[in-house]
Amino acid sequence: MVDLVDMTSARRNRSSRAESSPVRSATGESALGETVRADFPILARRFGGQPLVYLDNAATAQKPQRVLDAIVDHYAAANSNVGRGYYRLSHLATDVYEQARETVRRAIGAEHPDEVVFVPGTTAAVNLLADTLGRDLVGGGDQVAVTGMEHNSNLLPWRRLCESVGAELVVVPADERGRVSAEDFAAALGPRVKLAAITHVSNVLGTVNPVRDMIAHAHRHDVPVVVDGAQAVPHRPVDVRDLDADFYVFSGHKVYGPMGIGVLYGRRDLLHRLEPYQVGGGTVKGVSTTEPVRYVPAPARLEAGTPHIAGAVGLAAAFDYLDELGWDTIREHDETLVLAAVDAVGAVPGVRVVGDPAADPNGIVSIVVDGIHPYDVGGHLDAHGIAVRSGVHCANTFVDTFGVVGTVRLSFGIYNTLAEVELVRDALRTVTPGTWTTEHPTERFL
Ligand SMILES: Cc1ncc(COP(=O)(O)O)c(C=O)c1O
Repeated sequence: MVDLVDMTSARRNRSSRAESSPVRSATGESALGETVRADFPILARRFGGQPLVYLDNAATAQKPQRVLDAIVDHYAAANSNVGRGYYRLSHLATDVYEQARETVRRAIGAEHPDEVVFVPGTTAAVNLLADTLGRDLVGGGDQVAVTGMEHNSNLLPWRRLCESVGAELVVVPADERGRVSAEDFAAALGPRVKLAAITHVSNVLGTVNPVRDMIAHAHRHDVPVVVDGAQAVPHRPVDVRDLDADFYVFSGHKVYGPMGIGVLYGRRDLLHRLEPYQVGGGTVKGVSTTEPVRYVPAPARLEAGTPHIAGAVGLAAAFDYLDELGWDTIREHDETLVLAAVDAVGAVPGVRVVGDPAADPNGIVSIVVDGIHPYDVGGHLDAHGIAVRSGVHCANTFVDTFGVVGTVRLSFGIYNTLAEVELVRDALRTVTPGTWTTEHPTERFL
């Protein structure tokens, strides 16, 4: 257990050891942030005269002009419904939508485009799977395995499934540094486990799980695995076939795409076994008043109603954009910023880095500040134009294991810079306890 954040401890003098040296990283410089910033119109905004330092990318990433243009162009030139009209504009929209599916297929290394289901996001994908795959595979007395670091969106749907069918949720705990080992996960895979749902990367600490090994262990027990890739896809090239994932889900808005679109990848044989989650337009081959309803195959059987066509188009534009920047460059940039933040921010008196983000950097550095509520730290940083998330990050049970009321999460994107890390470090030197610390020292909300 990491020490409890002591809300009453005397504040250390943060400024006594203040240095104004520029922030450096063990991996040197990264020019990516400066190069791409101009592509993101929102980064030109100022708050109270200060430039926006956007470090809440794990919650949602900003959108490059390319993505905004793709959405506007779609509505301006190709808008109509898909797969429903026998006229050229509808054929065009259908083609554009299916091209977007193909782009996503390529981006995640899936074998067939029909393994890519467009959904509203990660939460929607996990709920879909819990209500279809889960109900198919899990019954009374069975078990579903998850890790101790799941976001509520990859925890509560499985918990509710277990409660409703009389199954048990087995939680493989993380260690004191916020890691889950493949061996501990394997040890939990008893004969009653029928399904596993694991996050690829923790949204609180940025810990990268050994998902490939975990999946291999699960498959030795014939247990299919759902991977929550919401925090992985924006930061690393993901190949679902290399991972041998049965299902892999993520949200478009965290990967520089639009809100309201996400992806549920499913291995073809498994996806085709799923019953429709919702029924309605677009899912059926034939409906009559006397015969049983005949459903079309996946992905359409899982995309009832009018899909988010412009969202899919925007997401494809985001993947094209990232592809052009190059994943090696993105990975190096990520590493540069994370290592720099761990060193620079972690050296501010009273600041502690939680977990071990430098072990395999993935854009997230979570900190706590001695004696100061995370909301007060968030408010202080905001006063300096710095946007971060403070609290439990929708992972209440994981944050509990660290004995803290919450953390302050710095989460980096492709447009962030070492100069911004420096601004965070300098701002943290002057943070003092505020209303939250004095009036709600142990209360949490988010
Ligand atoms: C690891 C993880 N899983 C799931 C989600 C839920 O994503 P969404 O709100 O886009 O459905 C998030 C969002 O923060 C996340 O970080």
